[in-house]
Amino acid sequence: MLKIKIRNADSEDAERFVNCYLRAYRGLESYAFSSKRDVKSYFRWLMKRDAKGVYSADVMIKTQGFDWSELRGAGFVACDSNWFSKYEGKEVCEIHEIFVDPEWRGIGIGSMLMREAISYSVKMRRDVLELWVGERNYRAMKFYRKFGFSSREKNGCWIRMVKTLNVK
Ligand SMILES: CC(C)(COP(=O)(O)OP(=O)(O)OC[C@H]1O[C@@H](n2cnc3c(N)ncnc32)[C@H](O)[C@@H]1OP(=O)(O)O)[C@@H](O)C(=O)NCCC(=O)NCCS
Repeated sequence: MLKIKIRNADSEDAERFVNCYLRAYRGLESYAFSSKRDVKSYFRWLMKRDAKGVYSADVMIKTQGFDWSELRGAGFVACDSNWFSKYEGKEVCEIHEIFVDPEWRGIGIGSMLMREAISYSVKMRRDVLELWVGERNYRAMKFYRKFGFSSREKNGCWIRMVKTLNVK
């Protein structure tokens, strides 16, 4: 039996973030940092931008008997409610990052993280969620479309996608 818990990330998640990130972006290296050091700095930057918008997914696994074991950091989402979008001409909730460890994909963790990002944007009264996705990252694009994101501008190999929210 499995349970998935979404919680706010903190500075102690740095190592988990780095390891999960590097596994998650295998095969998508052209859209990602490749060194541990860069990913660690990136995590610090995300936390500095908007720590309350960074979430981790933890997996609780029921082992024999009544014991639960916990795997912290099976996926992460990093939102930034202080982001000024020059495309929208206002502050938006930017999803800088979302990824799930390949071992734990396809069971709804990404969707839970995305729902958390949407709730966070509403809570912070940002009516636009924005992100950039690699032009050949078809799985992620399909995932975003499922959540109602639509494609906008292209900048190099990146495509901007947005979802509007009712925050009234
Ligand atoms: C995109 C990502 C976060 C989805 O996470 P996930 O935990 O697998 O997502 P879920 O289990 O909630 O699945 C949601 C949807 O994702 C898509 N999806 C999930 N696994 C998939 C797979 N193996 N192949 C194709 N699509 C898949 C499906 O559209 C699925 O919809 P469904 O529930 O109708 O089948 C994950 O694939 C990932 O980490 N990708 C690598 C990092 C990345 O590209 N991040 C985005 C950068 S812009």
